Amino acid sequence: MTTRTLTTNEQLQRAAALLRAGRLVAFPTETVYGLGANALDADAVRRIYEAKGRPSTSPLIVHVSSVEMAKQVAASWPDTAEKLARRYWPGPLTLVLPKRDFVPDEVTAGLGTVGVRIPEHPIALELIRLAGVPLAAPSANRFTQLSPTTADHVRASLAERVDMIVDGGACRVGIESTVVSLAGSEPLLLRPGMIGREQIEAEIGPVALADAAAPEGQAHASPGQHEKHYAPRTRLRIGAPATRERTAFLYIANEAEAEHRVRMPNEPKGYAAALYETLHRLDTLALDEIVVEQVPETPEWDAVRDRLTRAAVRTPR
Ligand code: TXA
Ligand code: MG
Repeated sequence: MTTRTLTTNEQLQRAAALLRAGRLVAFPTETVYGLGANALDADAVRRIYEAKGRPSTSPLIVHVSSVEMAKQVAASWPDTAEKLARRYWPGPLTLVLPKRDFVPDEVTAGLGTVGVRIPEHPIALELIRLAGVPLAAPSANRFTQLSPTTADHVRASLAERVDMIVDGGACRVGIESTVVSLAGSEPLLLRPGMIGREQIEAEIGPVALADAAAPEGQAHASPGQHEKHYAPRTRLRIGAPATRERTAFLYIANEAEAEHRVRMPNEPKGYAAALYETLHRLDTLALDEIVVEQVPETPEWDAVRDRLTRAAVRTPR
């Protein structure tokens, strides 16, 4: 396994060769780091689930470098896809569309649909082009852990489980892409992201909110959304600190007594970009609790509020 601060063309060539050979390469995108494999190679994709320790009921996003390549994995390309792709690709938006038969079930968790996006990161785009194949890539972390926004986060989570880590510095957006399904009778928002529902509706009209409930162990309209996700190891609570000791407080407007006071940007873009990095850092301090000031109930904050709410859901470990 190799991690370098500077990614050279030679390293990208090597990464592409590994991907073509069915190996795993972690790479930067504008949202979070992805754990990539050749999406058309079922054995390679199976290695992703092994490395993440993730159940195969969660489908993976397929990363492509052009609309043409997206159409190679999607069985249909509705007008809504064309509009959203024109407006937001490359960018942090995943479109769920009917899949072509040759896309392995391992990628889609047996669903008849595939999630696809063109990432807006020069290294990701170059890597896909060099590999010459679409790359299936979930976030490059062990299952239920925080998503990585730096190569160091990937190394700390996956270590030797990945064949190579391509270092592209810190991710600009900082939280996962918006996921919209265009596969049903009406567009559905499956996961909020920094491209908001209103921005999507401005392009294609009304977008419904997905119902988050799904029977245990079954593939789900919005798989990955029903489980505890995006959570630090340290207990996280939204509210105000109860005690100063061994506590961190992430605030935007109302500072309060805490051992570690972290002032977060009071606007959603800056907050999202800093969120996982901040939680990764605080998680290394073995605190009793991370307390987070509630963020506004307004639409611009939807994606950040979603991740905070999920991080605060606790199940026993
Ligand atoms: O920003 C991102 O999307 C990052 C980077 C690496 O691209 N990837 C990411 O992947 O967050 P992951 O595996 O952690 O989350 C993928 C989510 C799933 O939880 C699911 O909600 C949705 O994408 N998804 C993928 N394929 C789908 C499908 N066929 N039907 C419904 N949802 C799908
Ligand atoms: Mg993830």
